Amino acid sequence: MTSPSTTSYTKKRILSGVQPSGIQHLGNYFGAMKGHVELQNSGMESFIFIADLHSLTTLRDPLVLKQMIVDLALDYLAIGINPDKTVFFRQSDIAEHSELTWVLNCVTPVSMLEQAHAYKDAVSKGIKDATAGLFDYPVLMAVDILIYKPDFVPVGKDQKQHVEIARDIAGKFNRVYGNVFRIPEPMIHEVHGYIVGTDGAGKMSKSYGNVINMFADEKILKKQVMGIITDSTPVDDPKNPETDTVYKLYSLLAGDNEKSSLAEKYKAGGFGYGDAKKLLLEKIMDHFKPYREERERLKKNMDHVKDILKRGAAKARETAAATKAEVWEKVGLNI
Ligand code: TRP
Repeated sequence: MTSPSTTSYTKKRILSGVQPSGIQHLGNYFGAMKGHVELQNSGMESFIFIADLHSLTTLRDPLVLKQMIVDLALDYLAIGINPDKTVFFRQSDIAEHSELTWVLNCVTPVSMLEQAHAYKDAVSKGIKDATAGLFDYPVLMAVDILIYKPDFVPVGKDQKQHVEIARDIAGKFNRVYGNVFRIPEPMIHEVHGYIVGTDGAGKMSKSYGNVINMFADEKILKKQVMGIITDSTPVDDPKNPETDTVYKLYSLLAGDNEKSSLAEKYKAGGFGYGDAKKLLLEKIMDHFKPYREERERLKKNMDHVKDILKRGAAKARETAAATKAEVWEKVGLNI
C-alpha cells in the first residue's frame, strides 16, 4: 500500500501567474481562468498568484492598481479557485521574488532579454523611454516560476517565450553554481484557437475594447452583447452560423443540442441576429449566475479575501524561502 506521504511526494506541481489588468472577460475566462480551475481540481499541486509587481511595468496609478489587484482576487475566487486546493497569493507579498530577481539578473545575458517578443514589440511600437522594469520583466517572471520548482507552467501562447527564457536562465544558473532549479515545461492552453471579440475582427482583448465582462453590471453586460458586430443579412434570410460571432461565443457555453438547435434557426431564416444575441445574453447570465453571486458575497467581505491571500502567502513563502536559502548557499551570500 502506498502511504499518503509517498503519494504527495510524486504529485506534479503546476504554477501560473496572472497580471492584474482590470476585471476579467470571456477571453480571460476561456483562455486561462477555466483551465486554472480544472488543473486545480485535477489532483496536481497548484500555485496561482497575482503578478502585481509585473503591473508596475505599465501602470503608475496607485488607486487603479489597488482596484485591479482586488478585482483579480475576486474574479478568481468567484470562479472556483479554492484556497484549500490552490496556494493562491500575491507576488508582492513574497519578498523572495524581488531578491532572487537580482541574483538571476546577474547570470542573465542582456542579449537574451533583447530577443524577448514583448519587449521588442513595445520598442517597435515606438514606446519612448522604455524602463529597466519592462526590459527585466522576463527575469522577474523566471523567478516567479523557478522559485517554486513547478513541473508545468500553464500559459497562453503569447507567454511561451517567457517560459523558455525561464528555462534558459535556470540552466545557466545550474551550470554556473550547481543544481538548484527544476527546468519547467510550458503547458500551452490554446482553447478553440482564440476567443473572438465583439467586433468579430480578432482576439477578445481589453486593449481592443471588444470584450464581454461576465462580472459587469447586467446593464453593461447587455450593452456589450447587444453591441456584437454581425453582417447585414436581413432577418428573413438564412444565415451561416460558422462565420457569425454571436454563434461562436454561444458555442463556448452551450451544449451540443443547444448549439445545433441554434444553428438550425440560423439556416432556416426568419431569425435575426438580435434574437441570437438575446439567447447569448441569457446563456451568459445562466452560466455565470453562481459565480456572480459568489463574487458579490466576497466583495462584501474583503477582510476574508485579504485573509485568504495572506494565508496563501504564508504557504508560498515556505517554498520560496527554502529555494532562496539554497541559492544564497550556492552563490556565497550565506556566510
Ligand atoms: N506574464 C504573464 C502574463 O502576462 C503573467 C505572469 C507573471 C506569469 N509571472 C508568471 C505567468 C509566472 C506564468 C508564470 O500572462
